[in-house]
Amino acid sequence: MQIADVQEQIDHELVSSQQIERKIRQVAAQVSHDYQGRRPLLVAVLKGAVNTLVALSQAMTIDAQIDFMSLSSYGSGSSSSGRITVRQDLSTDVKGRNVLIVEDIIDSGYTLDWTVRELKRRGAASVEVFALLEKPARRKVEVPVKYKGFEVPDEFVVGFGLDYDERFRNLDSIAVLKPEVYEGSLV
Ligand code: PRP
Repeated sequence: MQIADVQEQIDHELVSSQQIERKIRQVAAQVSHDYQGRRPLLVAVLKGAVNTLVALSQAMTIDAQIDFMSLSSYGSGSSSSGRITVRQDLSTDVKGRNVLIVEDIIDSGYTLDWTVRELKRRGAASVEVFALLEKPARRKVEVPVKYKGFEVPDEFVVGFGLDYDERFRNLDSIAVLKPEVYEGSLV
């Protein structure tokens, strides 16, 4: 799905599909080089990171394993807190593995901070992070991000995995939602 298909709900585009593709291709080349001979385990936290994980893994030139985790965070409203529970766990034992966590966005950083610490606790040989987007204005906890995508302003962004109420995940770019949509006056 493209911006033109949902232009009534979208305020403006932030990152085009071409920019996303180019960035992911660069990161995939770097990751393929860095993990040569080590067959990394790519871990995506559902659901938002799925698009990025698929794009990254397909652009890589080395074999990689993929796995998924579903987490619940409890907090007020739409922002997460530090309390996280596992809704659906990985099917892989990460002990001794070189893990690359793939995220669509880092907001407060709580989700990523918990995930990195949990995978290290389980005995991963290494844990690194690729985040397609970061919202620095909202950061509460710092987590080292080795592979970086784009910084975005503190606005309601959707697309390429990111949703509003489960909508717009299949948009091929990253865009800012019109406030009328989440304020309820525009469906
Ligand atoms: C989003 C995103 C990250 C997390 C980032 O997931 O995919 O996992 O929030 O926020 P944080 O840095 O404040 O922890 P969300 O909980 O919205 O679930 P979804 O991916 O299924 O939409």
